[in-house]
Amino acid sequence: MRVRRRVRQVPLMLCVMILTSFFQVGQSVWSLSIPHQVYIVGTVSHFCNGMDLTPRQSTWCEENRELMASIRYGANLAVKQCQYQFQYRQWNCSVPERDSNTLFRRITGKGTKEAAFTYAISSAGVVYSIARSCVEGNLSACGCSRERRPKDLKSEFQWGGCGDNIEEGVRFTKQFMIAGEDNKAKETRKQERTLMNLHNNEVGIQVVKEKSNIICKCHGMSGSCNMKTCQRELPEFRVIGDALHMKYDNAVRVKMQMKDALNILNIVKKKRNGEYRRDNGGKLRSTHKKASINTMVYLKDSPDYCFKTHDFPGTQGRICSTDAFVANSCTELCCGRGYRSIQVVTRQRCKCKFHWCCEIRCKECENEETKNMCR
Ligand SMILES: *[C@@H]1O[C@H](CO)[C@@H](O)[C@H](O)[C@H]1NC(C)=O
Ligand SMILES: *[C@@H]1O[C@H](CO)[C@@H](O)[C@H](O)[C@H]1NC(C)=O
Repeated sequence: MRVRRRVRQVPLMLCVMILTSFFQVGQSVWSLSIPHQVYIVGTVSHFCNGMDLTPRQSTWCEENRELMASIRYGANLAVKQCQYQFQYRQWNCSVPERDSNTLFRRITGKGTKEAAFTYAISSAGVVYSIARSCVEGNLSACGCSRERRPKDLKSEFQWGGCGDNIEEGVRFTKQFMIAGEDNKAKETRKQERTLMNLHNNEVGIQVVKEKSNIICKCHGMSGSCNMKTCQRELPEFRVIGDALHMKYDNAVRVKMQMKDALNILNIVKKKRNGEYRRDNGGKLRSTHKKASINTMVYLKDSPDYCFKTHDFPGTQGRICSTDAFVANSCTELCCGRGYRSIQVVTRQRCKCKFHWCCEIRCKECENEETKNMCR
C-alpha cells in the first residue's frame, strides 16, 4: 500500500510542475513571437530573431519552430539550476553582460571551468525540457519514448507506458547545439573552444541519460500490485545539477592536439604539486590521454572572482555566514576583506490555517534578522 501511494504522488507532482512550466513557456513565446517589426515588414518572419542565434541555428529554428518554446524553457531551467548550485561560491553563476544573450546564459569565449559548466547544464536543460514536452503532447515532432525493453527487466513486468523521450531530446539538442558552434573556424584558439563546448555539451547530455531511472508502477486490483508497468523517467532537474556540479569540481584541463588528422582534446599533465607541466617553450605538456565524455573539460584557469572586474561583479555585497565550516563562510566568500553585519526585516507567511474547503489563509509576520555582507 505504501509503495502504491508513493508512485501515485510522483506523476501528480510532475503534472503540476509541467503545467506551470508551460504556462511560463507560453508567455515567453508570446512576447518573443511578436516583435514590433512584424507590423512594419509584414510577411518576413521574425520568429527566430532576437535570440542571438548563429545563422545555422536560425535556419534550424525556422524549420523547427515548435521546438523553440521547449528550448527556451530548458535554457531557463539551466540558469536557475546553475544559480542554485553556485549560490554559495565565489562565482555565483553570474555571466559577463555581453555573454548573457537572450536564450542561454553561458559564458562564451573564456575556456574556463565555469564556462564549461554553463555549456553542460544548458545542454542538459534542453534535453530535459524536450524529453518532457514530447511526453506532454506539446510537440508534434515527438511523443512517448520508443526505447526498447531493457534486457534485465524482470519478465513479469510490463514495459511501456509513456516514458520520457530522452532519445528525441538528445537528437534535437545535438542538432541545435552543433549548429551554434563555428565549424569553419581557422584560428586554433577558436577551434579549440568549439571542441571544448561540444565536449561539455555532450557531458551534460550524458548526465541526463545516466540519471534517468526505470520506474515501475503497480496496477491491477486495488492494492494488490500484481502487475507492474515500467518506463524510463527523468529525475528532478536538481539531481542533474548536483551531478554536473560534481563534474565541475573534478574538471580537467585539456589542450587541443592533432591525431590522425583530427583535432582532439588531450588531458594536460600535472606535477605532483598540482602545477601544470610545461615544456621548454613554456607550452603545456600533454598526457596524450583523450578526455572521456564523462569528464568536464576546460582550457584555461579561472580568473579571481573575488574582485570586481570588467566582466564580473566580484563578491562585494554577498551574504555570507560566520560559520567557518560552510561553503559560504565569510572567510571564503569575502576573500579576506571582512564583512559588515546588517539588520534586515523579512516578511513571511505564518500562522497558516486550513479553511474547509479548500483554502489556506495566512498572516504576515515580520522577522528581524542579522545578515553578514562582504565588504
Ligand atoms: C502544451 O499543451 C497544452 C495542452 O494541449 C496547451 O494548452 C499549451 O498551450 C501547450 N504549451 C505549449 C508551449 O505549446
Ligand atoms: C551574484 O553576486 C553578485 C555580486 O554580489 C550579485 O550582484 C548577483 O545578484 C548575484 N547573482 C545571483 C544569481 O545570486
